[in-house]
Amino acid sequence: DSESKLQLVQRHIRAFPDFPQQGILFRDICPILKDPAALTAVIDLFEDHVRKNHQQLDLIVGLDARGFLFGPLLAQRLGLGFVLVRKKGKLPGTTVSVAYDLEYGKAEVEIQEDAVAPGQKVLLIDDLLATGGTLHAACELMEKLQAQIAGCLVVIELQELKGADKLKPHRVFSLLRY
Ligand code: PRP
Ligand code: ADE
Repeated sequence: DSESKLQLVQRHIRAFPDFPQQGILFRDICPILKDPAALTAVIDLFEDHVRKNHQQLDLIVGLDARGFLFGPLLAQRLGLGFVLVRKKGKLPGTTVSVAYDLEYGKAEVEIQEDAVAPGQKVLLIDDLLATGGTLHAACELMEKLQAQIAGCLVVIELQELKGADKLKPHRVFSLLRY
């Protein structure tokens, strides 16, 4: 059942204090990828949520880099296509980009201009929601392409950083919250 799948996933997340810098408790999802049962559980739980809560989706949009680990598997389950939001400078052809602030400095995400057609309904996916800066920038990219945003999916939500508030009015679904 879904409770045992969630527990399986939870047992495959490790926490590393002070990585990549002092004061950050890094939530590492690598053990999920190493265990096929845990990875299947993640995709099962996302699939259940999407089938119950979303209709007529067109595309799954994954975020560089760890959104790429889960997004294509979910998209295949749902019979949907997958598109990539990448860090700047990685995608060929005409692209659209959005700059955003990190705790230190700035970053920029980018998508191919023809990746999503106007009016297409998309669900965004990443491994983890912290401040929400990354997913918020990806939502801005979707708006530039006139996509319809159905919501955001993450494995882990760090609740104290209030990323879900930053993403409002878009809905966030997380498997685990810390
Ligand atoms: C991590 C994580 C999310 C983002 C969340 O990625 O995978 O994409 O940070 O943080 P935010 O909600 O505060 O924006 P990171 O930027 O470390 O890059 P990576 O996926 O390439 O490792
Ligand atoms: N991305 C932003 N904050 C993170 C954290 N605490 N653990 C893993 N990835 C992150």
